Amino acid sequence: MKKPTNNNYPINELLKHRWSPRAYSEKPVETEKFQSILEAARWAPSAFNEQPWRFIVGVKGDKTWDMILETLVEWNRQWAGKAPVLVLNIGKKTHTRNGKNNVTFKYDTGQAVAMMVTEAVNQGLFGHQMSGFDAKKAAELFAIPDDYQAITVTAFGYYGNTDELPEDMYKSEIEERKRRSLKELVFSGKFGEPSNWV
Ligand SMILES: Cc1cc2nc3c(=O)[nH]c(=O)nc-3n(C[C@H](O)[C@H](O)[C@H](O)COP(=O)(O)O)c2cc1C
Repeated sequence: MKKPTNNNYPINELLKHRWSPRAYSEKPVETEKFQSILEAARWAPSAFNEQPWRFIVGVKGDKTWDMILETLVEWNRQWAGKAPVLVLNIGKKTHTRNGKNNVTFKYDTGQAVAMMVTEAVNQGLFGHQMSGFDAKKAAELFAIPDDYQAITVTAFGYYGNTDELPEDMYKSEIEERKRRSLKELVFSGKFGEPSNWV
């Protein structure tokens, strides 16, 4: 289903068509398409080029997928249980070069995931990120070392059937996408002072 942005200024087609659906098709994702999504993450920028992101990938039918699904809160499990690919997004908390805390590890990992969901659109797929999961359980199930932290889960797949969603999810699936205006977000001079750019 298409749910393009109602943008005020022109943006590229991939950004225009990215959104976070909940109605996934069970159609498997082709290996080469998912490889492109992973490759997109690789080329994300990061502080000191640390590349703190790590990914545990589960494909429906394998044990990893079952384990990632098990970490999700019940509400997310309801819809993400159809998605053919689930990815646990993990960040490394320290810099490899000096062992010091990497204060941007979540920021950088988020950028890599943003690249993935954008590349997904390029591949005719969708990605939907989730913070509604149990990071502690994920750490236990996947034996994640202390120096790393599970941050989010992303579901990937083809669009499915909107009508199969439970009522509350159906409502948000079809409703118009909303955003704050740039005026609320962009300042000049002091914080909160309107900018001439928008
Ligand atoms: C870090 C993060 C966590 C999110 N957690 C959830 C979640 O647990 N469950 C869910 O259904 N959607 C989740 N979302 C999706 C957001 O609700 C969605 O991105 C937002 O409403 C904007 O909609 P759009 O992505 O379609 O533009 C999350 C998104 C992000 C970026």
